[in-house]
Amino acid sequence: MSVEDDHLAQAVEALDALGEFEHPWMRGGLAGIPRHRFVPDTVWIPDAGGGYRALERAVEPERWAEAVYAPQDPLVVQVDDGRPALPGIGRAASSSISAPSAVLFMLRALDVQPGDRVLEIGAGTGWNAALLCERAGPDRVCTVEIDPALAARARQALEAAGRRVDVVCGDGELGHREHAPFERVIATAAVGRIPHAWIEQCAPGGVIVAPRIVPFHQGGLLRLVVGDDGTASGSFDGGVMFMPTRGQRRPRFDPATLISDDAWERSVEDTTALDVAALDDVHARFAVSLRVPDVHHLLEPDRGRGRTLWLGDAAGTSWAVVRTATDGDGDGGDGGDDVNRFGPRDLAREVHDALVLWEKAQQPRLWDFHATVTPQGTTYRVGDTDQPFAQDPGPPGR
Ligand SMILES: C[S@@+](CC[C@H](N)C(=O)[O-])C[C@H]1O[C@@H](n2cnc3c(N)ncnc32)[C@H](O)[C@@H]1O
Repeated sequence: MSVEDDHLAQAVEALDALGEFEHPWMRGGLAGIPRHRFVPDTVWIPDAGGGYRALERAVEPERWAEAVYAPQDPLVVQVDDGRPALPGIGRAASSSISAPSAVLFMLRALDVQPGDRVLEIGAGTGWNAALLCERAGPDRVCTVEIDPALAARARQALEAAGRRVDVVCGDGELGHREHAPFERVIATAAVGRIPHAWIEQCAPGGVIVAPRIVPFHQGGLLRLVVGDDGTASGSFDGGVMFMPTRGQRRPRFDPATLISDDAWERSVEDTTALDVAALDDVHARFAVSLRVPDVHHLLEPDRGRGRTLWLGDAAGTSWAVVRTATDGDGDGGDGGDDVNRFGPRDLAREVHDALVLWEKAQQPRLWDFHATVTPQGTTYRVGDTDQPFAQDPGPPGR
């Protein structure tokens, strides 16, 4: 048995023990479509400086195989859109092969049936497309990849594995009209708004599964069922984290560059009733992100000396810095915590109001929210309540 086969067998066993194989085909797919045949010889692992360093199969074969088959970890296969700044050193991940556990989680949500026409956004290595093909059948899967080199590589790997999948190089946010309609659409890159093309190109009753990312929050898998009136509705599950599509990348939120000395001088000093500690709760953060999706936040960990919360809108025009009380009682003192705010928006107030609404709604969890996507925007409700919790008035994505 080769070192790769050894790791493959161990991964299948581990995933089985975790109960990840809901259907026998999933186990067969994982075992029968070896991941290492899709992964390039150079992969990228995190380095101490927050970037990546190359891991070469020829140099560290055991470590490479271990990384390829880690059941719960994704593996970066491309950095900096294929143009690393220095040889062997990368700044940002631009493609990865998703963790097997995350892939299975999404496949369970997608619920592909034999014969379904499936659209995947983000071919990456082509491995997930091979799994989709295993279930849907030959010539039923179309996968779109924006990076030409990755698309060519995925096409080659799928052909070598004998999987008849159509690999298209293009912008997956536009779907792929030529092969529509689809019964299933799966995005393996995250979006803030569901592109309208995906709904238009999905047959009524079809399912769309897409990870969510907005400046305030990353995580949550949206599963929508398409209606026969051009709308789609569904709910969220899990905390899967995916890189955004290229069109939805945002610069990293960096308060140091956002807040100049001059702006600090001109900022308004105030107090806020915002309960900073409430943002430690992932469900609270998710709920707030539905109300203020375009606000970035950075919250210092609690080291017992008071905490700082930085908020900034995506437009870069408004920010707020909240410092929690340092008197030790954590109650924010008499009039609340100190805040410096700048710009037309009162971001501390917006986040405070969103948290109050979440409290009033009995602290719903991520999976308690229901989404309805129409050509006019997205409405979020808690369960089947009439009153919307939040409305994204923006049109659907491209
Ligand atoms: C997490 S990886 C996908 C993993 C892949 N499904 C696999 O099995 O290896 C995300 C991929 O989405 C691609 N991508 C990003 N934006 C895209 C877009 N607008 N259209 C198509 N692909 C996109 C990236 O280049 C990257 O390869």
